[in-house]
Amino acid sequence: IRDNGEAASRYAANYIVERINIFRPGPTNPFVLGLPTGSSPEIVYRILVEKHRAGKVSFQNVVTFNMDEYIGLPRDHPESYRSFMHKHFFSHIDINPDNINMLDGNASDLEAHCSDYEAKIKALGGINLFLAGIGEDGHIAFNEPGSSLASRTRVKTLTYDTILANSRFFGNDVGKVPKMALTVGVQTILDSREVVALVIGARKAIALQHCIEQGVNHMWTLSALQLHPYPLIVCDEDATLEL
Ligand code: GLP
Repeated sequence: IRDNGEAASRYAANYIVERINIFRPGPTNPFVLGLPTGSSPEIVYRILVEKHRAGKVSFQNVVTFNMDEYIGLPRDHPESYRSFMHKHFFSHIDINPDNINMLDGNASDLEAHCSDYEAKIKALGGINLFLAGIGEDGHIAFNEPGSSLASRTRVKTLTYDTILANSRFFGNDVGKVPKMALTVGVQTILDSREVVALVIGARKAIALQHCIEQGVNHMWTLSALQLHPYPLIVCDEDATLEL
């Protein structure tokens, strides 16, 4: 728990840098990093870029997998997660473009695309560290309430609550928010060696309470982290209001 969002984000960014550097990735043993989008990780990306510019971390031998993407939004739409990641992170670091993996919400065969994504993660030996954000309803990636805790990468219909929460990125117009998304599954995240969940702000307080003080429950999918051997929740004071 840190005093505010900036301090929590700094903690998460330092943690990721430390993990990459301890691992000493090389061309044949890359560090595999799972990444989220959303307003919470924006500061983490800003700090990671600063650290990269200061020579404290290189992403040359880091392979990334993003958690989720809207279905049907043009790739270059400013609110696609692909655009977000390039704007806030990838275009500012030394990552090899071939090492960036993102779900494509315009793939012609979405199911095949999702199973290829899982196979690619597996072929690399799994994800070393998954950084995650959460929704106000406790979803992790786009694993909406009711998702199977054994789920894998797949198509998911967004709940009205998520569409409403994300409408702030679409001029507050609920009609413009995509209704479906591709997302890694709860089990995909649980399979990572470490999971770091970033929970910032009072609007996440009820979700955090359900996810860590109540039992494991598929209606609050972040609660599945209780089943993980190395989960880390990094939050600010505001997010702890209901604990
Ligand atoms: C979306 C994403 C989630 C993210 C959540 C929180 O729903 N699919 O992966 O965790 O937004 O976003 P924010 O940080 O903007 O609250």
